[in-house]
Amino acid sequence: FTKQSGLLMIFGATGDLAQRKLFPSLYRLYKKGRLSENFACIGIGRREWDTERLKQHIFESIANEQGNTEEKQEFIKLFYYHSLDVSQKESSYHELRELADTLDSQYDLKGNRLFYLAMAPEYFGSIATRLKEDGLTETPGYKRLVIEKPFGHDFESARQLNDQLRKSFSEDEIYRIDHYLGKEMVQNIEVIRFANAFFEPLWNNHYIANIQITSTETLGVEDRGRYYENSGALRDMVQNHIMQIVSLLAMEPPIKLSTDEIRSEKVKVLRALKPIKDDEVDNYFVRGQYGAGEMNGELVPSYREENMVADDSNTETFVAGKLLFDNFRWAGVPFYIRTGKRLGEKSTQIVVQFKDVPMNLFYRTEEKLNPNLLVINIQPEEGITLHLNAKKGGKTPVQLSFLTSKYDRFNTPEAYERLLFDAMRGDATNFSHWDEVALSWKYTDVISRAWEREPAANFPNYPSGSMGPVTADELLAKDGFHWWPVI
Ligand code: BG6
Repeated sequence: FTKQSGLLMIFGATGDLAQRKLFPSLYRLYKKGRLSENFACIGIGRREWDTERLKQHIFESIANEQGNTEEKQEFIKLFYYHSLDVSQKESSYHELRELADTLDSQYDLKGNRLFYLAMAPEYFGSIATRLKEDGLTETPGYKRLVIEKPFGHDFESARQLNDQLRKSFSEDEIYRIDHYLGKEMVQNIEVIRFANAFFEPLWNNHYIANIQITSTETLGVEDRGRYYENSGALRDMVQNHIMQIVSLLAMEPPIKLSTDEIRSEKVKVLRALKPIKDDEVDNYFVRGQYGAGEMNGELVPSYREENMVADDSNTETFVAGKLLFDNFRWAGVPFYIRTGKRLGEKSTQIVVQFKDVPMNLFYRTEEKLNPNLLVINIQPEEGITLHLNAKKGGKTPVQLSFLTSKYDRFNTPEAYERLLFDAMRGDATNFSHWDEVALSWKYTDVISRAWEREPAANFPNYPSGSMGPVTADELLAKDGFHWWPVI
């Protein structure tokens, strides 16, 4: 990899994301020698800090990273602070532009600029507009906009936001973050599928019975009640992360591994999603909300008792659903998804369940054969496991397992480290294209509208620490399947 140069401007530099993910990721890139000497960063925040205060803050945010104090001191020299209240119309971006121009000549940055919006989504549009109006995007180098989720609240608001961004940045210059696309094993889906001779021929409705994607969390809503009340699990996890995983699993092989080719295959398969009719939502999707319960021996409150959450909240903290595709490869194969908070395990995994062999020759010794499973473990363990029927001291099935790491990798800087580096080098493959975002919103909007129309009568309907409401099991049972346990 070549070393990256340019000016990174982080809006929201005093915020949580910058502290937990962005600074540690930048530091790792720095330590790996991936930032050239022509790199600098401006942290932008509302607080009246100065550069010294920001440096101190960054130093603290990388306290747990490897490396000695001198290295860390050298690293924080690359940062500058600029105070700007983006909520005020009259705020001046001119001084920011002057600082950017000064750093440009000081570090010989060749006018390359990456604007990273790590802040409340209501400001995404206006910041992009001001960046252009106040001349920050007039630059001889590249200009790119990295934008955090949520990208809109539904299709209509996402379209409006997109239209506004597109007045200042072209689609090629917009990098919509979906941090799941930075995860090692999510990136590995394409490798597993397209670099191995034995999966791709079986990867269709002739051989696959169903595919299950489970992403469970043990944490509750924490201090994000205000955001989550307006979001819920469908918007928070399904519309983005889960739909991205589904599209990587279901897409056709691209003709080459270029950004455009991969994205166009993902878009194509999302277009093939069988739309759900307004009055059929209950046949395909179920929702849940956590009640109080016991987690690791400790009693935890129900969702409705959390901060900034309404006593009669209709917000779902759990979703399970069945997606179908109307195309030759997948017709008839359900893709089951489930995700939720306050569940018994923290885990993300994909299970590909193959169809049964045509008949059981072993019925005398084995009552029933187990279906072959390919399990892709995304977190906490990373790897793949194949479940096979074989004779092993009289016992079946056996598992062929390749699990690479066991340590905690949840939402770790590694995903951000990759994505930041990709944005710097102009590789948008692992970011969501507008067409993908639009199609997923259109798909989930039908579901959220139905759920808003008809508030759930039985919330809370699963205790904390369980694996969700029974309706999630019934969803598969009526097709003759069951969820494979998370590992
Ligand atoms: C975020 C959601 O996008 O993903 C959070 O907003 C969720 O609610 C998080 O907790 C899960 O990410 P990870 O990497 O921990 O699985």
